[in-house]
Amino acid sequence: MQIHSFALHQYEEVVDLWQRAGLQLSRSDTVEGLQQKLERDPDLFLVAKSESGKIVGVVMGSYDGRRGWVNHLAVDPDYQGQDLGSRLMQELETRLSTLGCEKINLLIEPSNSRVQAFYGRLGFTADELIFMEKWIEPAKSAKKGV
Ligand SMILES: CC(C)(COP(=O)(O)OP(=O)(O)OC[C@H]1O[C@@H](n2cnc3c(N)ncnc32)[C@H](O)[C@@H]1OP(=O)(O)O)[C@@H](O)C(=O)NCCC(=O)NCCS
Repeated sequence: MQIHSFALHQYEEVVDLWQRAGLQLSRSDTVEGLQQKLERDPDLFLVAKSESGKIVGVVMGSYDGRRGWVNHLAVDPDYQGQDLGSRLMQELETRLSTLGCEKINLLIEPSNSRVQAFYGRLGFTADELIFMEKWIEPAKSAKKGV
């Protein structure tokens, strides 16, 4: 298995993998949305490829200049339990560390409690915080992907 940075032509394959792995996608996961993401953190959006070139894992990392963030980590259901998720996370951690990042944050859906053990083994601990969110409409002048 090899880990590379995501390229936009892999969009359909990556979305298919996310859906098969059971991730909830949002309105931000359009091709334009992922292009914008790629422009901001080109080296933190990673895909894992099998020997045959099939994408079998993906993780979308971000660095906001203070904290690293992990989004949409998924491994193809046919390849789970073979250390791919752990290796993707290790590669992301190395790349964030290279950027000077000291702390990595991530959020887990309450219904996905099983994944806590996975992150726990990678050194993550749970914190009792309240997550609040708000969707806003981008301004008409906002930079859009092609
Ligand atoms: C979580 C996930 C990325 C782990 O990838 P992986 O390659 O299977 O993980 P590894 O082989 O490195 O580690 C195996 C451990 O991951 C966990 N795991 C495996 N399959 C899992 C699944 N379907 N859901 C949640 N956790 C899982 C288990 O704790 C497993 O340990 P075990 O072998 O003792 O049971 C992968 O299972 C997955 O894509 N799950 C569905 C999507 C998801 O929940 N993503 C995380 C969003 S926060």
